[in-house]
Amino acid sequence: MTAQSRTFLGIDVGTGGTRAVIVDDAGKVLGAATGEHIAFASPQTGWAEQDPADWWKACQLAVHEALRIAGVSPEHIACVGLTGQMHGAVLLDANGAVIRPSIIWCDQRTEEECRELTEKIGASRLIELTSNPALTNFTVTKLLWVRKHEPANWKRIASVLLPKDYIRFRLTGEKAIDVAEASGTLMLDVAHRRWSQEVIEAAGVNPAWLPKLYESIEVSGRISAQGAKATGLREGTPVVGGAGDQAAGAVGMGIVRPGAVSATIGTSGVVFAATDRPALDPKGRIHTFCHAIPGRWHVMGVTQAAGLSLRWFRDNFGTVTTDNRDPYDRLADEAAKIPAGADGVLWAPYLMGERTPHLDPYARGALVGLAANHGRGHIIRAIMEGVAFSLRDTFTIFEEMKVPVTNIRLGGGGARSSLWRQIQADVYSHAVEIVAADEGAAYGSALLAGVGAGTWASVDEACDVAVKVATRVNPTPQDQAVMRRQYQAYQRLYPALRSALRGEAGASAS
Ligand code: XUL
Repeated sequence: MTAQSRTFLGIDVGTGGTRAVIVDDAGKVLGAATGEHIAFASPQTGWAEQDPADWWKACQLAVHEALRIAGVSPEHIACVGLTGQMHGAVLLDANGAVIRPSIIWCDQRTEEECRELTEKIGASRLIELTSNPALTNFTVTKLLWVRKHEPANWKRIASVLLPKDYIRFRLTGEKAIDVAEASGTLMLDVAHRRWSQEVIEAAGVNPAWLPKLYESIEVSGRISAQGAKATGLREGTPVVGGAGDQAAGAVGMGIVRPGAVSATIGTSGVVFAATDRPALDPKGRIHTFCHAIPGRWHVMGVTQAAGLSLRWFRDNFGTVTTDNRDPYDRLADEAAKIPAGADGVLWAPYLMGERTPHLDPYARGALVGLAANHGRGHIIRAIMEGVAFSLRDTFTIFEEMKVPVTNIRLGGGGARSSLWRQIQADVYSHAVEIVAADEGAAYGSALLAGVGAGTWASVDEACDVAVKVATRVNPTPQDQAVMRRQYQAYQRLYPALRSALRGEAGASAS
């Protein structure tokens, strides 16, 4: 065997594009490429749909390109791991053809279906059965919407897949899903890692539509002749279960053992903790899902508009730049001139409603505490701090639930900015670490493939070999004290402004 004979391919079917990453058995990235997706369609406010054929096209492009860049021949790819955007519903007919565009993770149309399912099963029984409450993001509510509004499509359904599992179907011909991804359908008995017959029956879903369940490291199928022809991969290459993007991203950052926690600021923000039991929040403010590791679970809190808050500022109020400097670096320079606490200015980041801790699709953003002497720098700093306070809310819930937090690793764009790193360390009152390989979920799914191929005995071992800490940032005692006071003020914001922030739609819904 040559040095290249044990390499692993991770494929991340994201929202903006599909990324393929090839990793060797020391965890080194040999090559990576992305195929862009067409932006999601939003035929009505709050709706989000994508065409699965577009993902498949992007996947073929990304895999061909990653193989070429890495200079790895297909017979040296020992195993493939899949990951991707979670919660989306791909509906297939009896011939395996897609019935309608996929209703994806951020689609918000199913509030009524959430209410109906909760009433039918009972709120606490639903949490008992699935470990989670009904949220508009979760797959089953999208199926119920199709039944109510598109009966002709409903009648044609022969199987239901999630986005990355549709790609698996195209690659292998198998209809399969992993337990980490299935947790986000609201049809999984998360505690026992099996489908919940009670929820499936109450929802009126045909159990025969659901794919076969695997653990993330188990082989779920092999690249078919057609899959090989389309991607350049070798026919017969095994494909493991993989995981949804959050669990796979956590593996990529080494968040595998209890005590390990990540705080990722991408478009949304996620604080994710590995646990050795399905830890429940009876109020349903955080998600409790299976981890991509047999016998482990995870809890996570989600801020809907984290990086999006700063992007929103950049797009609407950013200055036009004439050089090649990253516009986010310029914004950070302005914010860095302002002291910690932004002189009392606070940002509530509810541009897209909120999941954790408020579970309020109608919440809206707010900038509070302005005085005549405040300028752009105060506002930018307040936005960065407000996003960190919002993620801090999840740590507060973890404290209530006694979820241990021993080390915190940062991911996403929020980990690349030195100012945002420091703000996070001060707001979380904890040292934060940044890992060397920043390939996120695709990297994590490649590690899962390495475990499936038998190169590493466990996901823990894979992470011990591959995931390295590059930088550590400690909180500054003085700023930490300021942030503690500011966080208390931030926590009073939502209850104080709730009715004013909810907008007209929310006011009539409450
Ligand atoms: C997780 C979630 C997002 C999507 C999109 O609950 O909604 O991470 O998977 O990437």
